[in-house]
Amino acid sequence: MKGIILAGGRGTRLAPLTEVTNKHLLPVGKEPMIWHSVKQLVLCCGIMEILVVTSTHHMGDIVNSLGSGQRFGCEFTYRVQEEPNGIAKALLLGEQFSQDQQIIVLLGDNIFEYSIKPHVEAFKKQQIGARILLKEVGEPERFGVAALDEKQIISIEEKPKHPNSNYAVVGCYMYDSQVFQLIRKLNRSPRGEFEITEVNNLYIEQGELQYSFVQGQWMDAGTFESWYEANEILLANNNFILPQQE
Ligand code: G1P
Repeated sequence: MKGIILAGGRGTRLAPLTEVTNKHLLPVGKEPMIWHSVKQLVLCCGIMEILVVTSTHHMGDIVNSLGSGQRFGCEFTYRVQEEPNGIAKALLLGEQFSQDQQIIVLLGDNIFEYSIKPHVEAFKKQQIGARILLKEVGEPERFGVAALDEKQIISIEEKPKHPNSNYAVVGCYMYDSQVFQLIRKLNRSPRGEFEITEVNNLYIEQGELQYSFVQGQWMDAGTFESWYEANEILLANNNFILPQQE
């Protein structure tokens, strides 16, 4: 099992803070935002090989912050996403790195109060397919939103104007090695990106998408309000990620 952290994008919703640095290097609590994803993978899940994808512009700063991985007890590989053309395209850069193993993909601006380990353990037991995490939220239109029946996810819609549930798909995705061939089937969305939501919909069509619910607080720290909340949580916990009952 390997880890991939996606830390690209322009961070325009946090301008002017993101004019000279990458969003994922802004402080959350007492540490740079991206350290949270690294700690989730390494300290909570024991994943030692991690690929970090970011833009040309910010690769230098990201490498300055994370280094080789020695300080975290892992090994980083870095790849540049030249164009901000979506999460799915960023993930495609991880094909060779993944070597047909299961992968855990984290968006570098997602902050979780609790460890993701129990979800990763559940995914390890899956023979095939993907697993995503859901969280009930107040403003689902900001996210990918899952429509559920009693047992399974029926479909996911990216930033719907009229969401049909309050369940946001959070930025933690677990995939088997099929994911790369599924990404190649995608077309650009109306916002001009290759959407991770469409990858998850292809897994739904195949009947191979499992899910679980995030416990505790979760946020996508990409807006001022949510970044502020993320700061509050991590500062209160001294940047410690709480263990979750399995
Ligand atoms: C992305 C995904 C969205 C997901 C969100 C979680 O949105 O496209 O489905 O709910 O991350 O943070 P974006 O950050 O590109 O707006």
